[in-house]
Amino acid sequence: MSKPVIVSGIQPTGLLHIGNYLGALKNWVDLQNSGKYDCFFFLADYHSITENYSPAEKKEQIFNLVCDYLASGLDPKKSTIFVQSQIPECTELAWIFNTLTPIGELERMTQFKDKSNKQVKNINAGLLTYPILQAADILIYHGEFVPVGQDQVQHLELAHDTVKWFNNKYATEYFKDVKPLLTETPKIMSLIESTAKMSKSAGAKHYIGIDESPEIIAQKISKAVTTPEGIKNLETIYNVFNSSMQGKFDANKMAETKKIIATGIADYFDDFRKKKMELMKDKKRVMKILEEGKAKAQPIAQKTLKEVKEIIGLI
Ligand code: TYM
Repeated sequence: MSKPVIVSGIQPTGLLHIGNYLGALKNWVDLQNSGKYDCFFFLADYHSITENYSPAEKKEQIFNLVCDYLASGLDPKKSTIFVQSQIPECTELAWIFNTLTPIGELERMTQFKDKSNKQVKNINAGLLTYPILQAADILIYHGEFVPVGQDQVQHLELAHDTVKWFNNKYATEYFKDVKPLLTETPKIMSLIESTAKMSKSAGAKHYIGIDESPEIIAQKISKAVTTPEGIKNLETIYNVFNSSMQGKFDANKMAETKKIIATGIADYFDDFRKKKMELMKDKKRVMKILEEGKAKAQPIAQKTLKEVKEIIGLI
């Protein structure tokens, strides 16, 4: 019997922070290694161009992100690892889903509203239709489970609705339901603004990058706010990296506790940093992994698109 399919992706937009790692990437590695699922992990480059970006930097960001995937433990022998834009069938399916999706459902998405506020001069149609492409990303591989952080749950509800809209309109049961898989830490908070999620866009002092040096990590943690929410967030981080923490968490001794946390995080990612450095030097090998991923993903995408076209009456 075939295994349930897992699909997820991350946008190549610069370095990954511990929120991305704890909400998504770490879980991907665990799910992959459980052997229970057929896993598809991609780089959401088409999604990332809905934001302001530099074409010259984008290529580097893509290479950097795939190195993050591999250095974290994603294994091309166990998972299909590929670049979203290299599978044009997915974008075609997104067009079909465009014709099923009420505009109002897109306009109410909190991420659309947030991003529109952040880039008022660039409220492009891609920002609005973003969750439609996300639904296609998942459904083109018949994904059932989608490991993500809390901020993606609303998008996955739209993917769930897309299944309903498609199956109802075409009187079929072709697509299966889509469900999010959250970790115990689906929303890591910013170090500085402890009521906002940790994100790259807020600025460097708000997050810990998973490949940052022990010195930078120590500096950033030392400046983390110690409001009640801030302490709670640091405790969550301490607990989740517990195996590397050399000392106890003590909310009454935050200066000392912060040092323990900073060293613990740096130690946790020590092996990752070394592996990533090796991978960054071997571009040929990394690019080959992406080519092989494409070769595995594309026939599945082609089959889905062909079947969908058949169902909806196209030739
Ligand atoms: P992206 O690139 O913004 O984020 C990647 C993953 O990191 C999670 N995440 C967090 N988890 C916990 N705490 C945080 N502070 C935090 N910040 C981010 C996100 O929830 C996400 O899982 N739209 C997606 C990419 C995407 C996708 C897909 C995902 C495109 N197509 C299909 C799943 C399936 C995104 O922008 O993620």
